[in-house]
Amino acid sequence: MGVKSGLGFVQSVRRILRGRPQIPASLEDNPALAVVLRRRSVRRFAREEIPDDVFAAILEAGRLAPSTVNLQTWSLAVFTPELWRETFGRSIPFGGARAVVVMGDTHRVRLALEAFPQSPMVEYTVAVMNASLAAMNMNIAAEAVGVSSVMLSETGRTGLLDAGYLKEKLGLPERVAPLLTMVFGYRRGPAPVMPPKLPMEAITFEGRYREPGEGVMERWLAEMKAGYKASHPLSSFEAQLEVYRGKIDEAEAALRQMVFSSLEEM
Ligand SMILES: Cc1cc2nc3c(=O)[nH]c(=O)nc-3n(C[C@H](O)[C@H](O)[C@H](O)COP(=O)(O)O)c2cc1C
Repeated sequence: MGVKSGLGFVQSVRRILRGRPQIPASLEDNPALAVVLRRRSVRRFAREEIPDDVFAAILEAGRLAPSTVNLQTWSLAVFTPELWRETFGRSIPFGGARAVVVMGDTHRVRLALEAFPQSPMVEYTVAVMNASLAAMNMNIAAEAVGVSSVMLSETGRTGLLDAGYLKEKLGLPERVAPLLTMVFGYRRGPAPVMPPKLPMEAITFEGRYREPGEGVMERWLAEMKAGYKASHPLSSFEAQLEVYRGKIDEAEAALRQMVFSSLEEM
């Protein structure tokens, strides 16, 4: 770990703990900005219900999200803990109070108009892009009303990597692709530490593309591994990646089928 970057475990953990949002002092009291910047993926929830009207407001933020030509290419499967157990035979991951499976959906819009003539990659990309924005709107709205959340693509067999399983469980028609599960609830315990975020210079450039600076990605990887080790002493970042990779082939096949089934040659 950290061989290339020369960063050891302790140094990496220190760097993570020092991570803070970088904003000018004049904006520190801006409440909307504060909501966006303090949002963290939360994986420990209290046994406390989310009132129906509060949860409805979160879903409303999803409904009102922006989308390509206002096509609203998403569907949201909404679950209480009871319905989740009935459907999937287990609890909502991390003891969450509500869950939403977010899907890219171009089936519905096709009932009204022919928006995507034989262009499956564009169609799928548009669906994913817009559904992700709806998810993020719900995520931020939740944070604004004191509800925490996490988006899951792997944990609990209910994300992108379980597309085939979800298609069957939820009775999804063609062109409805499950992307992720959002778990909502009131946080239990302290706010999670901000995980290693790449520096601004590594992700932005003016005009032409710019490679990240020397050692930036090695430093980030060292921090990812150290952060994982610190929070999961019995596992490792690599082991977690292996779990993810173990499901990739099946997911790839299921998604290809969903995306390209309209084209004879695929
Ligand atoms: C599309 C997507 C899928 C994710 N899937 C998982 C997952 O399967 N399991 C998990 O624990 N976290 C998952 N996460 C949460 C990320 O690990 C988290 O966003 C990332 O580490 C950054 O942390 P932050 O959200 O606190 O900034 C996912 C996030 C996104 C956006």
